Amino acid sequence: MTRKLGSGKLVIATHNAGKLREISALLAPYGVECISAGALGLPEPVETGTTFVENALIKARAAADASQLPCLADDSGLSVAALGGRPGVYTADWAERQWFEGEPGRDWYMAMGKVEGMLQAIGPDADRACWFSCVLAIAWPDGDTAVYEGRADGTFSWPPRGGKGFGYDPVFVPSGRSETFAEIDPEEKHRISHRADAFAKLVAEQFGG
Ligand code: IMP
Repeated sequence: MTRKLGSGKLVIATHNAGKLREISALLAPYGVECISAGALGLPEPVETGTTFVENALIKARAAADASQLPCLADDSGLSVAALGGRPGVYTADWAERQWFEGEPGRDWYMAMGKVEGMLQAIGPDADRACWFSCVLAIAWPDGDTAVYEGRADGTFSWPPRGGKGFGYDPVFVPSGRSETFAEIDPEEKHRISHRADAFAKLVAEQFGG
């Protein structure tokens, strides 16, 4: 039997206001009151895991231990088949400008270009299959955990197209479509994305029948 959250307080282990808004809206119908780790002044743990599951659990566990409340964390990224699954858990790191220029900040165009450069180095027939992953981890203060994995398959497309999304959206064409995630309306992207897939599994198990 999987442990159930029920209604009540849930700490969202993110310091990102956008993620907190999105997750709060998704869980509002189930009577869950979301509080951000940032608002509680919880420290952000270092993500030392080598998988999305490990990193999501690290964040959820750190927040549950510090707050003594159930906590939800997510970890996500893009994996490219021909690159052995890279950038994977390092998706955000590949956009860190200081690796290249000694300046803080993220440069998504540079990160997408790095993937494209590696695919071009393989050759014109390189397999462009890729997928976004999203792992949601819940940790309870007593040590219990639950994990939900979501995935959206697609193709890495170059050059980047569209201005609606964020991160790697402009190069990701979901399977069965011709537009990138950044050309698709956000409401629709939220129905077909890796995050939607993971949330559907969480809601079904935590709040379903
Ligand atoms: P994290 O989950 O906050 O560690 O970030 C993972 C990185 O993956 C993000 O910074 C984005 O660049 C990328 N990513 C995750 N989900 C999406 C998405 O839906 N669209 C575009 N990029 C994404």
